[in-house]
Amino acid sequence: MLYNIVTYGCQMNVHESEKIAGILEKMGYTASEKREDADIIVFNTCAIREGAEDRAFGNIGALKQTKRENKNKLIVVCGCMTQQKKVADYIYKTFPFVDIIIGTHDLEKLEGLIKKRLEEKKRIVSELKDNYDIIENLPIHRTSGDNAWVNIMYGCNNFCTYCIVPYVRGREQSRKKQDILNEIKNIVQSGKYKTITLLGQNVNSYGSEDKTQGTFSELLNDICKIDGDFKLTFMTSHPKDLTDDVIEAIKNNDKIIKEIHLPVQSGSNRILKLMNRKYTREHYLDIVRKLKENIPNIRITTDIIVGFPTENEDDFKDTCNLVKEVKYDGIFAFMYSKRSGTVAEKMEGQVDDKIKNERVNYLLNLEKEIKAQKETK
Ligand code: 5AD
Ligand code: SF4
Repeated sequence: MLYNIVTYGCQMNVHESEKIAGILEKMGYTASEKREDADIIVFNTCAIREGAEDRAFGNIGALKQTKRENKNKLIVVCGCMTQQKKVADYIYKTFPFVDIIIGTHDLEKLEGLIKKRLEEKKRIVSELKDNYDIIENLPIHRTSGDNAWVNIMYGCNNFCTYCIVPYVRGREQSRKKQDILNEIKNIVQSGKYKTITLLGQNVNSYGSEDKTQGTFSELLNDICKIDGDFKLTFMTSHPKDLTDDVIEAIKNNDKIIKEIHLPVQSGSNRILKLMNRKYTREHYLDIVRKLKENIPNIRITTDIIVGFPTENEDDFKDTCNLVKEVKYDGIFAFMYSKRSGTVAEKMEGQVDDKIKNERVNYLLNLEKEIKAQKETK
C-alpha cells in the first residue's frame, strides 16, 4: 500500500506532513513519488494567500479522473484551508471524490478516520474544533534531509489584521520544555541530522502562557547544553517580542546559527499600525542595530507585504528605505491577499493588483542590488 502527500505552505506544514507520513508508515503504507500510484493521497493545505488555495483546489480537482479509474483510492484533505468551515463545506460539495476532510487540530484522529472510511464507505468531515490539546509522541517520518524540524509552540495570539493564521491555528500553546529537550536529545543521538530548526508562529513568545516552562532564551541556552555536534536555528521571530536576552543567547552559543528571519511586513508606521504589528519602524531598526552590533555578520531575512489596504507611494518608499538601511540577506515579498474573516478584509482602499505587482518587482530588484553590493565588498 502506497501513500503520497502533497504539501503547501510554510515549514510548519512541511513538518506536519512528516507527522502524517509517520502515522501512515505506522499503518503499513510506504511512500510513493507518483501521486497516481498511491492508494492514499493527502493534501496538506495552506490558507495564507488566495494563490495557495487556488493551487490546492486545482490539484484536488485534477484527481477526479484518477479516482474514477480506481474507486478504492482514498483522498484526504487537511491543513489550514479545511479549518475554515466555509472552505471545508465547499470542498465537500465541489469534490465528491474527496473521502476525508479534517482540520488542523485533528491529526491524532487520522488513523481512526482512515480505518472508519475503509470499513463504512461513508465520506467523513471531521468536526472542526477551535480548542486543541498538544499531542506528544506522534510518529514522525523525517523527510527534510539533514535538517530536523522541532515544534516548540503552536498557534498565534497576534491577530495581525491581514492574517488568517490565528483563525485556523488557534491560540498560542507552548510545548513542555522537557518534551522538547527529550525530542532533541533523540534527534542528536540518532546522528542523522546536522541542523535542528525550532518552529513556531512566534517563537519569541515561547512559554508566555505557561510561565513554568521558562522563556525562549532559556530554552535556547538549555538546548545548546545538549552534548553533540549540531547547529540550531529557529523561525519565526516577531519583532515586538525579540528581547535582548534572545540576542544574547544567539551571541553566546556557538551552536546557534548566526541568522534570523525577522518579518518587518512594512516600513511605514501608518501601515504597521493598520496591520496591528505593535512596533514602529524605529523600534524595528533599533533591534536590527542591536543584532548587528552584538553579532557581527549576522544574516537577516524578512517578509514584506505590498499593497496592504491604503498603502500609497510614500508608504512604499518608507519600506524601500528601510530595506536599503537594513541591507537584508533575503526578502520574501508578497502581494497582499484578502482573507475571509480578517479585519483587513473589510478595510477601504484595497490596492490594485497591477500596483502590487510593480511593488513586488521593485523589491526583488532592490534585493538583487543589495546582494550585488555585498558581493563586491
Ligand atoms: N497576504 C499576503 N501575505 C500574507 N502573509 C500573511 N498573510 C498574508 C496575506 N493575507 C505573509 C506575511 C507572513 C508570511 C508568512 O506570509 O508576510 O510573514
Ligand atoms: Fe499571522 Fe501575525 Fe501571527 Fe505571524 S504573528 S502568524 S503574521 S497573525
